[in-house]
Amino acid sequence: MADDGDRFFRYIVAGMRNGVLAYTRDGTLALINEEAYRIFDVTPRRTDLGQPVADVLRAHPEVVRVLNSVFDLHFLPNRAELRLRPSGRVIGYTMALVRDDAGRVVGAAMFFKDLTRVEQIEERERLRDRLAAVGEMAAAIAHEVKNPLAGIEVMAGLLRRKVADLPDAQSLLTDIISEAKMANAIVQEVLEFVRPIRLQVERTAVRQAIQSAVQLADTKARRGDISIDVQVPGALPEIQGDQHQLTQLFTNLLTNAYEAMDGRGRVAISAQAVRLDDGAEGRDAVLVELADEGPGMPQDVADRVFDPFFTTKSHGSGLGLAIVRKIVDAHDGTIDLRTAPGRGTMIRVTLPVTGSADAV
Ligand SMILES: Nc1ncnc2c1ncn2[C@@H]1O[C@H](COP(=O)(O)OP(=O)(O)OP(=O)(O)O)[C@@H](O)[C@H]1O
Ligand SMILES: [Mg+2]
Repeated sequence: MADDGDRFFRYIVAGMRNGVLAYTRDGTLALINEEAYRIFDVTPRRTDLGQPVADVLRAHPEVVRVLNSVFDLHFLPNRAELRLRPSGRVIGYTMALVRDDAGRVVGAAMFFKDLTRVEQIEERERLRDRLAAVGEMAAAIAHEVKNPLAGIEVMAGLLRRKVADLPDAQSLLTDIISEAKMANAIVQEVLEFVRPIRLQVERTAVRQAIQSAVQLADTKARRGDISIDVQVPGALPEIQGDQHQLTQLFTNLLTNAYEAMDGRGRVAISAQAVRLDDGAEGRDAVLVELADEGPGMPQDVADRVFDPFFTTKSHGSGLGLAIVRKIVDAHDGTIDLRTAPGRGTMIRVTLPVTGSADAV
Protein backbone atom coordinates (compact mmCIF):
# COMPACT_ATOMS: atom_id res chain seq x y z
CA MET A 1 0.00 0.00 0.00
CA ALA A 2 2.78 2.36 0.96
CA ASP A 3 4.34 1.48 -2.35
CA ASP A 4 1.19 2.52 -4.23
CA GLY A 5 1.20 5.79 -2.33
CA ASP A 6 4.82 6.39 -3.27
CA ARG A 7 4.09 5.69 -6.85
CA PHE A 8 1.15 8.05 -6.82
CA PHE A 9 3.31 10.86 -5.46
CA ARG A 10 5.91 10.14 -8.06
CA TYR A 11 3.27 10.43 -10.78
CA ILE A 12 2.15 13.77 -9.41
CA VAL A 13 5.66 15.12 -9.51
CA ALA A 14 6.40 13.67 -12.94
CA GLY A 15 3.26 15.21 -14.40
CA MET A 16 3.72 18.65 -12.89
CA ARG A 17 3.98 21.50 -15.36
CA ASN A 18 6.54 23.19 -13.15
CA GLY A 19 10.10 22.07 -12.73
CA VAL A 20 10.60 20.35 -9.39
CA LEU A 21 13.84 19.35 -7.78
CA ALA A 22 14.51 18.18 -4.22
CA TYR A 23 17.71 17.37 -2.41
CA THR A 24 18.79 16.26 1.00
CA ARG A 25 20.72 18.28 3.53
CA ASP A 26 24.04 16.91 2.30
CA GLY A 27 23.32 18.04 -1.25
CA THR A 28 22.24 14.70 -2.74
CA LEU A 29 19.61 14.84 -5.48
CA ALA A 30 16.46 13.13 -4.22
CA LEU A 31 13.92 13.98 -6.87
CA ILE A 32 13.78 15.73 -10.22
CA ASN A 33 11.06 15.76 -12.86
CA GLU A 34 11.08 15.89 -16.63
CA GLU A 35 10.14 19.55 -16.86
CA ALA A 36 13.18 20.36 -14.70
CA TYR A 37 15.45 18.49 -17.08
CA ARG A 38 13.86 20.31 -20.01
CA ILE A 39 14.25 23.76 -18.53
CA PHE A 40 17.84 23.12 -17.46
CA ASP A 41 18.53 21.44 -20.78
CA VAL A 42 20.20 18.52 -19.01
CA THR A 43 19.97 15.00 -20.43
CA PRO A 44 18.34 12.70 -17.85
CA ARG A 45 20.42 9.76 -16.64
CA ARG A 46 19.16 6.83 -14.67
CA THR A 47 21.91 7.36 -12.13
CA ASP A 48 21.13 11.01 -11.38
CA LEU A 49 19.18 10.36 -8.19
CA GLY A 50 21.62 9.86 -5.34
CA GLN A 51 24.30 11.97 -7.05
CA PRO A 52 25.41 15.33 -5.66
CA VAL A 53 23.03 17.89 -7.12
CA ALA A 54 26.05 20.05 -7.95
CA ASP A 55 27.24 17.33 -10.34
CA VAL A 56 23.94 16.85 -12.11
CA LEU A 57 23.55 20.62 -12.57
CA ARG A 58 27.21 21.21 -13.35
CA ALA A 59 26.22 23.35 -16.33
CA HIS A 60 24.35 25.73 -14.01
CA PRO A 61 26.64 26.95 -11.22
CA GLU A 62 24.27 29.89 -10.62
CA VAL A 63 21.49 27.45 -9.68
CA VAL A 64 23.77 25.33 -7.51
CA ARG A 65 24.73 28.47 -5.62
CA VAL A 66 21.08 29.14 -4.80
CA LEU A 67 20.53 25.54 -3.74
CA ASN A 68 23.59 25.60 -1.48
CA SER A 69 22.62 28.79 0.27
CA VAL A 70 19.15 27.67 1.28
CA PHE A 71 20.02 26.05 4.59
CA ASP A 72 21.70 29.26 5.80
CA LEU A 73 18.88 31.62 4.98
CA HIS A 74 16.41 32.97 7.52
CA PHE A 75 13.82 33.72 4.91
CA LEU A 76 13.49 31.68 1.77
CA PRO A 77 12.85 33.55 -1.45
CA ASN A 78 9.17 33.43 -2.16
CA ARG A 79 9.35 34.33 -5.81
CA ALA A 80 12.76 35.00 -7.26
CA GLU A 81 14.14 35.01 -10.77
CA LEU A 82 17.33 33.71 -12.20
CA ARG A 83 18.86 33.80 -15.67
CA LEU A 84 20.41 30.54 -16.80
CA ARG A 85 23.76 31.41 -18.24
CA PRO A 86 24.10 29.01 -21.18
CA SER A 87 20.62 29.38 -22.69
CA GLY A 88 19.71 32.87 -21.50
CA ARG A 89 16.44 31.39 -20.22
CA VAL A 90 14.88 33.08 -17.24
CA ILE A 91 13.33 30.95 -14.53
CA GLY A 92 11.04 32.07 -11.72
CA TYR A 93 11.42 29.92 -8.62
CA THR A 94 10.38 29.36 -5.03
CA MET A 95 12.24 27.32 -2.43
CA ALA A 96 10.83 25.21 0.36
CA LEU A 97 12.46 23.34 3.20
CA VAL A 98 11.65 19.66 3.69
CA ARG A 99 11.15 18.68 7.35
CA ASP A 100 10.79 15.28 8.98
CA ASP A 101 8.15 14.33 11.55
CA ALA A 102 10.20 15.89 14.31
CA GLY A 103 10.42 19.18 12.43
CA ARG A 104 14.08 18.85 11.62
CA VAL A 105 15.18 20.21 8.25
CA VAL A 106 16.26 17.22 6.16
CA GLY A 107 16.34 18.78 2.73
CA ALA A 108 14.99 21.42 0.42
CA ALA A 109 13.00 21.67 -2.77
CA MET A 110 12.95 24.10 -5.62
CA PHE A 111 9.86 24.74 -7.76
CA PHE A 112 10.37 26.71 -10.92
CA LYS A 113 8.92 27.78 -14.20
CA ASP A 114 10.38 28.88 -17.51
CA LEU A 115 9.63 32.61 -17.75
CA THR A 116 11.22 33.20 -21.13
CA ARG A 117 7.95 33.29 -22.99
CA VAL A 118 6.36 35.52 -20.36
CA GLU A 119 9.31 37.88 -20.80
CA GLN A 120 8.95 37.91 -24.55
CA ILE A 121 5.30 38.81 -24.24
CA GLU A 122 6.11 41.65 -21.83
CA GLU A 123 8.77 42.95 -24.19
CA ARG A 124 6.28 42.90 -27.03
CA GLU A 125 3.76 44.80 -24.93
CA ARG A 126 6.31 47.48 -24.14
CA LEU A 127 7.00 47.81 -27.84
CA ARG A 128 3.30 48.01 -28.55
CA ASP A 129 2.93 50.85 -26.04
CA ARG A 130 5.76 52.71 -27.69
CA LEU A 131 4.26 52.19 -31.11
CA ALA A 132 0.90 53.35 -29.83
CA ALA A 133 2.38 56.64 -28.63
CA VAL A 134 4.25 57.26 -31.88
CA GLY A 135 1.22 56.15 -33.83
CA GLU A 136 -1.14 58.56 -32.16
CA MET A 137 1.11 61.48 -32.92
CA ALA A 138 1.59 60.32 -36.50
CA ALA A 139 -2.15 59.96 -36.96
CA ALA A 140 -2.77 63.47 -35.68
CA ILE A 141 -0.17 64.96 -38.00
CA ALA A 142 -1.28 62.92 -40.99
CA HIS A 143 -4.81 64.04 -40.41
CA GLU A 144 -3.83 67.72 -40.24
CA VAL A 145 -1.62 67.47 -43.31
CA LYS A 146 -4.11 65.69 -45.51
CA ASN A 147 -6.40 68.62 -46.25
CA PRO A 148 -3.80 71.28 -47.05
CA LEU A 149 -2.09 68.72 -49.25
CA ALA A 150 -5.25 68.06 -51.21
CA GLY A 151 -5.65 71.84 -51.48
CA ILE A 152 -2.17 72.25 -52.94
CA GLU A 153 -2.83 69.56 -55.52
CA VAL A 154 -6.15 71.02 -56.64
CA MET A 155 -4.92 74.61 -56.80
CA ALA A 156 -1.77 73.67 -58.67
CA GLY A 157 -4.03 71.89 -61.17
CA LEU A 158 -6.13 75.02 -61.64
CA LEU A 159 -3.08 77.17 -62.06
CA ARG A 160 -1.64 74.80 -64.63
CA ARG A 161 -4.69 75.32 -66.78
CA LYS A 162 -4.30 79.08 -66.52
CA VAL A 163 -0.73 79.09 -67.74
CA ALA A 164 -1.30 76.88 -70.75
CA ASP A 165 0.98 79.12 -72.81
CA LEU A 166 3.95 79.06 -70.41
CA PRO A 167 5.72 75.69 -70.78
CA ASP A 168 8.26 76.38 -67.99
CA ALA A 169 5.55 77.20 -65.47
CA GLN A 170 3.60 74.16 -66.69
CA SER A 171 6.42 71.81 -65.97
CA LEU A 172 7.05 73.30 -62.52
CA LEU A 173 3.41 72.89 -61.65
CA THR A 174 3.47 69.31 -62.88
CA ASP A 175 6.34 68.66 -60.47
CA ILE A 176 4.44 70.29 -57.62
CA ILE A 177 1.45 68.10 -58.30
CA SER A 178 3.49 64.92 -58.41
CA GLU A 179 5.32 65.80 -55.18
CA ALA A 180 1.99 66.51 -53.51
CA LYS A 181 0.72 63.15 -54.71
CA MET A 182 3.75 61.44 -53.21
CA ALA A 183 3.31 63.21 -49.90
CA ASN A 184 -0.30 62.12 -49.95
CA ALA A 185 0.73 58.50 -50.51
CA ILE A 186 2.95 58.70 -47.44
CA VAL A 187 0.11 60.14 -45.39
CA GLN A 188 -2.10 57.26 -46.54
CA GLU A 189 0.57 54.77 -45.51
CA VAL A 190 0.89 56.37 -42.09
CA LEU A 191 -2.83 56.20 -41.54
CA GLU A 192 -2.79 52.60 -42.68
CA PHE A 193 -0.05 51.84 -40.18
CA VAL A 194 -1.79 53.51 -37.29
CA ARG A 195 -5.14 51.88 -37.84
CA PRO A 196 -5.47 48.95 -35.43
CA ILE A 197 -5.38 45.59 -37.17
CA ARG A 198 -8.54 43.55 -37.15
CA LEU A 199 -7.70 40.12 -38.38
CA GLN A 200 -10.15 38.28 -40.57
CA VAL A 201 -9.03 34.89 -39.39
CA GLU A 202 -9.60 31.89 -41.61
CA ARG A 203 -7.74 28.73 -42.48
CA THR A 204 -4.98 30.13 -44.59
CA ALA A 205 -2.40 28.53 -46.83
CA VAL A 206 0.87 30.39 -46.34
CA ARG A 207 1.89 29.25 -49.81
CA GLN A 208 -1.06 31.11 -51.32
CA ALA A 209 -0.14 34.31 -49.46
CA ILE A 210 3.45 34.03 -50.69
CA GLN A 211 2.34 33.51 -54.27
CA SER A 212 0.03 36.52 -54.19
CA ALA A 213 2.82 38.57 -52.66
CA VAL A 214 5.22 37.63 -55.45
CA GLN A 215 2.74 39.07 -57.94
CA LEU A 216 1.88 42.13 -55.89
CA ALA A 217 5.52 43.05 -55.20
CA ASP A 218 6.06 43.52 -58.93
CA THR A 219 3.71 46.49 -58.80
CA LYS A 220 5.59 48.08 -55.87
CA ALA A 221 9.22 47.87 -56.86
CA ARG A 222 11.34 47.22 -59.90
CA ARG A 223 12.35 43.57 -60.06
CA GLY A 224 14.57 43.69 -63.13
CA ASP A 225 16.37 40.37 -63.62
CA ILE A 226 16.00 39.19 -60.04
CA SER A 227 14.94 35.54 -59.93
CA ILE A 228 12.66 34.19 -57.25
CA ASP A 229 12.99 30.70 -55.88
CA VAL A 230 9.94 29.61 -53.86
CA GLN A 231 10.26 26.32 -51.96
CA VAL A 232 7.03 25.70 -50.11
CA PRO A 233 5.99 22.08 -49.57
CA GLY A 234 2.42 21.34 -50.58
CA ALA A 235 1.80 19.50 -47.31
CA LEU A 236 2.40 22.55 -45.13
CA PRO A 237 -0.29 22.89 -42.44
CA GLU A 238 -2.79 25.68 -42.98
CA ILE A 239 -2.70 28.33 -40.28
CA GLN A 240 -5.36 30.44 -38.59
CA GLY A 241 -4.51 33.71 -40.22
CA ASP A 242 -5.60 36.65 -42.29
CA GLN A 243 -4.84 35.91 -45.93
CA HIS A 244 -4.86 39.57 -46.94
CA GLN A 245 -2.59 40.73 -44.13
CA LEU A 246 -0.18 37.88 -44.70
CA THR A 247 0.02 38.79 -48.35
CA GLN A 248 0.88 42.33 -47.35
CA LEU A 249 3.51 41.05 -44.95
CA PHE A 250 5.35 39.08 -47.64
CA THR A 251 4.85 41.86 -50.19
CA ASN A 252 6.64 44.34 -47.93
CA LEU A 253 9.52 41.91 -47.39
CA LEU A 254 9.86 41.23 -51.11
CA THR A 255 9.68 44.95 -51.92
CA ASN A 256 12.59 45.60 -49.58
CA ALA A 257 14.56 42.74 -51.11
CA TYR A 258 14.04 44.10 -54.66
CA GLU A 259 14.94 47.61 -53.57
CA ALA A 260 18.10 46.30 -51.94
CA MET A 261 19.21 44.26 -54.92
CA ASP A 262 19.25 46.65 -57.81
CA GLY A 263 17.83 44.34 -60.46
CA ARG A 264 20.25 41.40 -60.09
CA GLY A 265 20.55 38.18 -58.11
CA ARG A 266 18.17 35.78 -56.41
CA VAL A 267 15.55 35.89 -53.70
CA ALA A 268 14.88 32.56 -51.98
CA ILE A 269 11.66 31.95 -50.08
CA SER A 270 11.19 28.72 -48.19
CA ALA A 271 8.63 27.50 -45.71
CA GLN A 272 8.50 24.51 -43.40
CA ALA A 273 6.48 23.16 -40.50
CA VAL A 274 8.21 23.53 -37.16
CA ARG A 275 7.43 23.00 -33.53
CA LEU A 276 8.03 25.99 -31.28
CA ASP A 277 9.62 25.25 -27.94
CA ASP A 278 7.82 27.74 -25.77
CA GLY A 279 6.59 26.40 -22.49
CA ALA A 280 5.54 22.92 -21.55
CA GLU A 281 3.40 22.05 -24.55
CA GLY A 282 5.13 23.64 -27.51
CA ARG A 283 3.17 24.83 -30.55
CA ASP A 284 2.99 23.93 -34.20
CA ALA A 285 4.03 26.72 -36.48
CA VAL A 286 5.07 27.53 -40.01
CA LEU A 287 8.53 29.02 -40.45
CA VAL A 288 9.06 31.19 -43.52
CA GLU A 289 12.54 32.30 -44.50
CA LEU A 290 13.15 34.98 -47.08
CA ALA A 291 16.75 35.51 -48.11
CA ASP A 292 18.06 38.11 -50.53
CA GLU A 293 21.44 38.78 -52.07
CA GLY A 294 21.40 42.50 -51.42
CA PRO A 295 24.10 44.46 -49.59
CA GLY A 296 22.92 43.44 -46.11
CA MET A 297 23.00 45.90 -43.22
CA PRO A 298 25.36 46.95 -40.48
CA GLN A 299 24.24 46.13 -36.94
CA ASP A 300 23.10 49.66 -36.05
CA VAL A 301 20.72 49.68 -39.03
CA ALA A 302 19.52 46.14 -38.34
CA ASP A 303 18.64 47.18 -34.77
CA ARG A 304 16.24 49.84 -35.99
CA VAL A 305 14.57 48.44 -39.09
CA PHE A 306 11.32 47.63 -37.29
CA ASP A 307 11.00 51.13 -35.83
CA PRO A 308 8.27 53.10 -37.54
CA PHE A 309 9.64 55.83 -39.82
CA PHE A 310 13.16 54.43 -39.81
CA THR A 311 14.42 54.46 -43.37
CA THR A 312 17.71 54.81 -45.24
CA LYS A 313 15.97 55.47 -48.56
CA SER A 314 15.43 58.94 -49.97
CA HIS A 315 11.84 58.10 -50.86
CA GLY A 316 11.08 55.55 -48.14
CA SER A 317 8.58 56.17 -45.39
CA GLY A 318 10.12 53.58 -43.08
CA LEU A 319 6.80 51.91 -42.40
CA GLY A 320 7.21 48.71 -44.44
CA LEU A 321 8.79 46.63 -41.69
CA ALA A 322 6.84 48.35 -38.90
CA ILE A 323 3.69 47.14 -40.63
CA VAL A 324 5.25 43.70 -41.08
CA ARG A 325 5.95 43.51 -37.37
CA LYS A 326 2.44 44.62 -36.55
CA ILE A 327 0.98 41.87 -38.71
CA VAL A 328 3.30 39.23 -37.25
CA ASP A 329 2.35 40.33 -33.73
CA ALA A 330 -1.34 40.16 -34.53
CA HIS A 331 -0.78 36.54 -35.57
CA ASP A 332 1.11 35.88 -32.34
CA GLY A 333 4.19 35.04 -34.41
CA THR A 334 7.82 36.06 -34.25
CA ILE A 335 10.20 37.75 -36.65
CA ASP A 336 13.93 38.18 -36.66
CA LEU A 337 16.62 38.89 -39.19
CA ARG A 338 20.14 37.80 -39.94
CA THR A 339 22.26 40.15 -41.91
CA ALA A 340 25.72 41.61 -42.25
CA PRO A 341 27.26 44.02 -44.74
CA GLY A 342 27.97 42.16 -47.96
CA ARG A 343 26.17 39.03 -46.82
CA GLY A 344 22.60 39.67 -47.89
CA THR A 345 19.63 39.62 -45.55
CA MET A 346 17.53 36.75 -44.30
CA ILE A 347 14.23 37.38 -42.56
CA ARG A 348 12.64 34.59 -40.55
CA VAL A 349 8.97 34.69 -39.70
CA THR A 350 7.21 32.08 -37.59
CA LEU A 351 3.43 31.92 -37.63
CA PRO A 352 1.77 29.60 -35.12
CA VAL A 353 -0.79 27.29 -36.68
CA THR A 354 -3.46 28.24 -34.16
CA GLY A 355 -1.85 31.36 -32.72
CA SER A 356 -4.46 33.96 -33.47
CA ALA A 357 -7.63 31.96 -33.00
CA ASP A 358 -8.58 34.21 -30.10
CA ALA A 359 -7.29 37.44 -31.63
CA VAL A 360 -10.41 38.05 -33.70
N1 LIG B 1 16.30 43.31 -47.51
C1 LIG B 1 16.93 44.37 -47.05
N2 LIG B 1 18.24 44.60 -47.36
C2 LIG B 1 18.89 45.69 -46.91
N3 LIG B 1 18.32 46.64 -46.13
C3 LIG B 1 17.03 46.49 -45.78
C4 LIG B 1 16.27 45.36 -46.21
N4 LIG B 1 15.02 45.47 -45.70
C5 LIG B 1 15.01 46.61 -44.99
N5 LIG B 1 16.20 47.24 -45.04
C6 LIG B 1 16.55 48.50 -44.35
O1 LIG B 1 15.54 48.77 -43.40
C7 LIG B 1 14.99 50.06 -43.60
C8 LIG B 1 13.54 50.05 -43.19
O2 LIG B 1 12.76 49.23 -44.04
P1 LIG B 1 11.20 49.52 -44.20
O3 LIG B 1 10.65 48.54 -45.17
O4 LIG B 1 10.60 49.56 -42.85
O5 LIG B 1 11.15 50.98 -44.77
P2 LIG B 1 11.56 51.48 -46.23
O6 LIG B 1 11.70 50.32 -47.17
O7 LIG B 1 12.75 52.37 -46.07
O8 LIG B 1 10.30 52.37 -46.62
P3 LIG B 1 8.84 51.81 -47.04
O9 LIG B 1 8.87 50.31 -46.89
O10 LIG B 1 7.90 52.43 -46.08
O11 LIG B 1 8.67 52.24 -48.44
C9 LIG B 1 15.23 50.33 -45.07
O12 LIG B 1 15.27 51.73 -45.33
C10 LIG B 1 16.59 49.68 -45.30
O13 LIG B 1 17.64 50.49 -44.85
MG1 LIG C 1 10.20 48.88 -47.30
